[in-house]
Amino acid sequence: MRIVLVGPPGAGKGTQAQFIASHLAIPRISTGDIFRYNVTNRTELGRQAREFMERGDLVPDEVTVAMVRTRLSEEDAQEGFLLDGYPRNVPQAVILEKMLASEWGAKLDVVLELVVDEDEVVRRLSGRRTCRVCERVWHVLYDPPARVAVCDDCGGELFQRDDDSESTIRHRLEVYTLQTAPLVSFYADEGTLIGIDATGPVEEVTSRALAALRPFVH
Ligand code: AP5
Repeated sequence: MRIVLVGPPGAGKGTQAQFIASHLAIPRISTGDIFRYNVTNRTELGRQAREFMERGDLVPDEVTVAMVRTRLSEEDAQEGFLLDGYPRNVPQAVILEKMLASEWGAKLDVVLELVVDEDEVVRRLSGRRTCRVCERVWHVLYDPPARVAVCDDCGGELFQRDDDSESTIRHRLEVYTLQTAPLVSFYADEGTLIGIDATGPVEEVTSRALAALRPFVH
């Protein structure tokens, strides 16, 4: 099954993607996570992406598309995948469609939109903390660890992402409205879009997501 998850920064894409991908036994492919790994490890890809990420801008399409093509070619993605954070604009969506058709003779099964309002997104992102070791995502109010700044799962140190400062969050939301929101209409016109309310407890959102995806599971 080939799924795209779309929604504003902080909608809970990463949080939901891990449950959905594990439930459907497909790999979760997060372009944001791949970029952050490369920035942390000071690779050439990380060097190309870093300044854009720090500002909250999109990394240029040619860099992102090449990275996604390489990742989709890996063994574990041949029978399906859940893309989290890609595509991020209409040109990336068009390239993905062509890439799937020409290289795999495949197409997307469904695009799942997580719908959350802007105030909630800002609350979620400003309280987000991530584990340096296992990358588990926490929230200081909504999903707090038992000990401050320590991951319950692995004991790793929790940190706040560089792009989660209030001014960068606002800029990321502008970028979403201008560049990513048009994707929703693009996929709605294609008939592949389903949207769910992504507010409320994490488990309830997961149940809604799995129920919405059920008709597409094959
Ligand atoms: P990326 O990492 O994709 O960031 P994003 O889209 O801004 O999304 P986030 O990771 O911030 O949020 P999320 O929706 O995953 O929310 P989460 O589950 O963590 O991209 C980062 C950067 O990389 C981009 O700015 C760009 O520069 C670059 N990039 C990536 N892809 C690109 C592309 N295709 N093209 C070009 N550039 C690209 O949840 C947030 C918080 O809320 C957490 O604390 C969580 O615990 C909490 N939470 C989650 N669900 C709930 C709930 N139901 N109730 C209460 N709290 C909740």
